[in-house]
Amino acid sequence: MRLNEDIAISTSKVLLVPYDAHHVQQYHRWMEDPSIREATASERLSLEEEYENQASWRESRDKLTFIVCAPLLRGGGSLDVEETKAVLAGVGDAVDRMVGDVNLFLSPWDGDGDDEEQAQAQKGDEKEAKTYCTAEIDIMIADPKFRGVGLGRAAVATFLYFVRQHLDGILAEYMGSLDIPTANSKTATSKPVLKDVVAKINADNKASIVLFQALGFKQRGETNYFGEIEMVFEGFGFGEIDEWDKMSSSVMGDRYEELFYDRSQLKE
Ligand SMILES: CC(C)(COP(=O)(O)OP(=O)(O)OC[C@H]1O[C@@H](n2cnc3c(N)ncnc32)[C@H](O)[C@@H]1OP(=O)(O)O)[C@@H](O)C(=O)NCCC(=O)NCCS
Repeated sequence: MRLNEDIAISTSKVLLVPYDAHHVQQYHRWMEDPSIREATASERLSLEEEYENQASWRESRDKLTFIVCAPLLRGGGSLDVEETKAVLAGVGDAVDRMVGDVNLFLSPWDGDGDDEEQAQAQKGDEKEAKTYCTAEIDIMIADPKFRGVGLGRAAVATFLYFVRQHLDGILAEYMGSLDIPTANSKTATSKPVLKDVVAKINADNKASIVLFQALGFKQRGETNYFGEIEMVFEGFGFGEIDEWDKMSSSVMGDRYEELFYDRSQLKE
């Protein structure tokens, strides 16, 4: 997705930066670990394929990706956010500060249609007709020494807060990827709606289950054939969810800021 191409997000607990080509070598090293591939249901890729993936995720209108990094320093260092008001690519996200990634994948919602709004849409009420979508979220804190200190939870809370702040823009970019019906068609689209956010987790991945539970996700259904459960945040895209906003701001840390991601110092 282009939306976050130049945006870094900083809180007192975590830094998120757009996934760039200069991150790929480290990303590839992480994905060489079979346990990481298993936990994230990923295939082993060559370095070249990983570069292609990174480029395609930037272009894809349905995929929003950030690299998770250790938080910026405060109080006068070269990474000090108050001084720079920007995150220098290759500095704030130097290899030894990269810890994982967090991403969202949007797709059409294939619910059961018993929802009132969905029913209205099916009746052909064009004013009410909406395009429903769902989003799958993935989190990885790749380096075990960074696990268990709240980084994963802070990264997901910060990321979802960003998604809520930019939901219209995210859905607008996503809608460009769909074959949208014309205005007078029975299924005309007035506004896209994000129905839910879903995490697909190995049933034995307790840390991930605990993480998503703490952020308001609830298990839907039983363990599937692949040994995965679905943790779902229903109605994530609907209006106010005050309780979640309150809870997430304590988890993501203080001083949420969106900063310019400055690539000017990157060596080719
Ligand atoms: C799952 C993962 C993202 C968690 O990230 P993290 O930074 O270690 O998580 P946090 O420290 O924010 O929180 C983890 C929570 O799980 C708890 N936890 C960890 N292991 C646990 C276990 N075996 N049983 C129960 N709870 C456990 C921790 O105590 C913590 O809860 P607390 O803060 O209430 O004490 C990370 O371990 C990871 O990336 N693993 C590999 C990839 C992966 O599994 N991704 C998820 C795919 S859906």
